[in-house]
Amino acid sequence: MKQLIFAANWKLHLGPDGARQFLEAFSQHYDSVADREVWFFPAAVSLRTVAQSIQGHDYMKAGAQNVFGEPKGAFTGELSVPMAQEAGAQAALVGHSERRHVFGETDAETGKKVRAVLEGGLVPLLCVGEKLEEREAGGTLAVVQRQLGVLDGLSVTDLGQIVVAYEPVWAIGTGKTATPSDAAEVHAAIRKWFVDKGVAADEVSILYGGSVKPTNVASLVSEPDVDGVLVGGASLDPEMWATIASVDID
Ligand code: PGA
Repeated sequence: MKQLIFAANWKLHLGPDGARQFLEAFSQHYDSVADREVWFFPAAVSLRTVAQSIQGHDYMKAGAQNVFGEPKGAFTGELSVPMAQEAGAQAALVGHSERRHVFGETDAETGKKVRAVLEGGLVPLLCVGEKLEEREAGGTLAVVQRQLGVLDGLSVTDLGQIVVAYEPVWAIGTGKTATPSDAAEVHAAIRKWFVDKGVAADEVSILYGGSVKPTNVASLVSEPDVDGVLVGGASLDPEMWATIASVDID
């Protein structure tokens, strides 16, 4: 059975010591739940610590928050896929809204990173989502489809490896959440995009992200097209993150 994915994006928080302490505290509060995996996206410098701390717990994975599209070379300050893998990453976020809108990452760069992640044998977690003005102008689905367009040309097998996170930009870190039915509509459109390319509907995992909290996680993940969540702020408290990742789903 396809596993739900509860993914923590720690952003620029928790160095190696903080990450180790977090995972010790988290393990006090979290008992594994059979239908789901818990993924952690720490800062690059904390990847190895996280990977070592979760060793032996197959339901947990570590991933990089961002990677570069080339495996090595004169690219000061970047993190390559092979290096992330060597540090213990099994996945990588690609195209997070902060990469796109704070650091100016283009669709072309995002597409290159997805390919690098696939070539390196990691799971790409591709983030898509519209800005407030795009939603207000009725452009949500067009934006998401344009962002998915970077996957054009990939094989059905490669497409089947990709996890998508729908994160409306206006909901990230703002306390505003898409209603479960708004999220469901976009998730259904994303699933259809993959199905139209030949991927089996139940092979595609689509997470929701944007101000997910203990109070709203159940209603979001109960939507049939929502296969998990990508959580920033509320994943930084071990007890709160354990509460979110333990949520009962009808
Ligand atoms: P948030 O962040 O949960 O703090 O809104 C989500 C994300 O950026 O992935």
